[in-house]
Amino acid sequence: MVENSFKRYNQKIKEFEKLKTETYQYCLSGDTRTIDIVLPLSKKQKYFADILNRQKNSGIFSSPPYVDLIDYHEQHAYFGFERKDELETGSLLKGQGREAPKSYAEGISDILNNCKKYLKESYNVF
Ligand SMILES: C[S@@+](CC[C@H](N)C(=O)[O-])C[C@H]1O[C@@H](n2cnc3c(N)ncnc32)[C@H](O)[C@@H]1O
Repeated sequence: MVENSFKRYNQKIKEFEKLKTETYQYCLSGDTRTIDIVLPLSKKQKYFADILNRQKNSGIFSSPPYVDLIDYHEQHAYFGFERKDELETGSLLKGQGREAPKSYAEGISDILNNCKKYLKESYNVF
């Protein structure tokens, strides 16, 4: 199963290489419940951070974690990312008891509340 998901990821990366356009993009890795996206961006691409501060985001396109279904950490390790198991929203490690959906809903709410400060007054979330 893990082997299949690695193949899917590699396929996605190849497809993205073909589809990506010449737009500004920057990838930040972190806990979306608390991450500050402007400060680290201003250290790397000040021009882009200034645009973000001025115009804000029109929306979010996300593939959020599933509740208690997948252990993403083996995939992260495979791609050389540092493991941050304890920060996982909807973690499989937290079990599938009654508390899991509640903790997941709280985590997703915290994520959306953190994102909101970077969004325009009218925005879309996919
Ligand atoms: C459904 S996967 C989507 C992965 C990737 N975007 C894709 O399309 O293949 C959800 C991802 O969210 C990550 N994740 C879970 N909790 C998170 C959090 N609090 N902050 C940032 N990422 C988190 C998981 O580790 C996993 O990599």
